[in-house]
Amino acid sequence: MKLINVATPEEGAVKAAEIVIKQIKEKPASVLGLPTGGTPIGLYSELAKAVKSKHVDFSQIQTFNLDEYYGLSKDDPQSYYTFMNVNLYASCGLRSDQTHIPSGTAPDAEVEVNAYEAAIAQAGGLDLQVLGIGGNGHIGFNEPGTDPKSRTHVVTLTRNTREANARFFTSIDEVPTRAMTMGIQTILDAKVILLLVFGANKADILFDAFKGPVSLNNPASFLQNHPHLIVIADTAAATRLYA
Ligand code: F6R
Repeated sequence: MKLINVATPEEGAVKAAEIVIKQIKEKPASVLGLPTGGTPIGLYSELAKAVKSKHVDFSQIQTFNLDEYYGLSKDDPQSYYTFMNVNLYASCGLRSDQTHIPSGTAPDAEVEVNAYEAAIAQAGGLDLQVLGIGGNGHIGFNEPGTDPKSRTHVVTLTRNTREANARFFTSIDEVPTRAMTMGIQTILDAKVILLLVFGANKADILFDAFKGPVSLNNPASFLQNHPHLIVIADTAAATRLYA
């Protein structure tokens, strides 16, 4: 694992954008795996700046998001599709044929997750997967206890995760109870993984993920097995790693 320590999330966003841009310059038709959440917003705004100034060309990339709530339509303000459209697709001029997110309104969720996994394989697999980490170690919506061999699947969200995400909804009751997510093995199959970890509230889980055992209790700990993992952590998140 390569650990890049940055002073602030803003600096982390710039570093992360450099890595993503380098990937796309080396392979213009790169397949990117992308997260939603608070963590990647700075990265997405750096990428939008780079596209606008023609520093990088996104016209051949494909993107696959990690996850989507089940039960929310694409145009629901809280859907991950809307999040991506607002934070990345529109500002980077990505065409709809370049972007992929499991459909939250697919009539049969099992058919949808299998088709999604097949679409990733059809695209040639993920070249670079960007990740955030949840307070309980979840990656995508892979909660503690998830089979490390899992592929894209349907999940029931834990109370912990629904509470953490309630900040984007009017109340916790509005947070869907189910979601679709790439599995841990889908993520581990990416050629390169770029994990972004910012803030003091992530310090304990980051420490457990990389200084503790590989364990079902902390899904992010399975990243320890990845041959090409880059972690960008700000000082607040990384304090315990260096203590
Ligand atoms: C979202 C995702 C989640 C988030 C995690 C951290 O697509 O994959 O695993 O990365 O919940 O969220 P933030 O960045 O809001 O702290």
